[in-house]
Amino acid sequence: MGKGKLEKFQDLGQMPHVFQNFKWLDPKLLNYKKEVVDYRGKWSKEVFKNDHPIILELACGYGEYTMAMAEELPNKNIIGIDLKGNRIWTGANYVQEKGLNNAVFLRSAIELLENFFGANEVSEIWIPFADPHVRDSKSKKRLTGPKFIQLYRYLAGKEGIIHLKTDSDLLYEFTLQVIETEGCTILENYPDLYNSTFNNELLRVKTRYEKLNISGSARVKYVKFRLN
Ligand SMILES: C[S@@+](CC[C@H](N)C(=O)[O-])C[C@H]1O[C@@H](n2cnc3c(N)ncnc32)[C@H](O)[C@@H]1O
Repeated sequence: MGKGKLEKFQDLGQMPHVFQNFKWLDPKLLNYKKEVVDYRGKWSKEVFKNDHPIILELACGYGEYTMAMAEELPNKNIIGIDLKGNRIWTGANYVQEKGLNNAVFLRSAIELLENFFGANEVSEIWIPFADPHVRDSKSKKRLTGPKFIQLYRYLAGKEGIIHLKTDSDLLYEFTLQVIETEGCTILENYPDLYNSTFNNELLRVKTRYEKLNISGSARVKYVKFRLN
């Protein structure tokens, strides 16, 4: 039988490559020794012990992209981030079993990342199958909204690259509008990804939510853009 939530939370708390924040106000990252750590501007040097570029997977859920990128991109440092510890456990456990030393996980709200990273510390951000927040009243929670673009500009600077993969027409169209109003530059745009010719094999990675196909859409959409 698989592990339950509580066992997964216990496991997570003992993994050296997992860092967790439990507070919205006064956020602090705790390591597996329950020590407060501050790696702002120092993730590559102090955590990964190299100077490789950092890629974030936001709202990573079970961490499929983090797992795949850690295996496929040994010269990058990958950080999977999600609120839900029982989901992160899957990726964190995989990374541990495979002995991958270029991936870690953060259990945190994305909104708090300014507390945990230095300016321009990140090179790319992947956002696969984020919640589209279909109701207008929740639109501020969409991870490609202007407030988040501002956060990503802090994390990744003008050269920062964002990858959005979604089956939601609403989130895709919303993102295209934000790209325009925010003056970002589209680098690749596939309204029907799997019926397009693309070079990046990572785009074939299917996350848990992609497989669930909640929107019922026949088309997966992908847009890659530079923040500017
Ligand atoms: C629709 S699921 C997608 C998960 C994964 N990307 C996938 O494709 O299977 C959305 C995920 O976003 C996470 N999430 C939502 N809001 C978040 C926030 N503000 N900060 C961190 N994670 C968040 C949820 O915990 C959930 O795992």
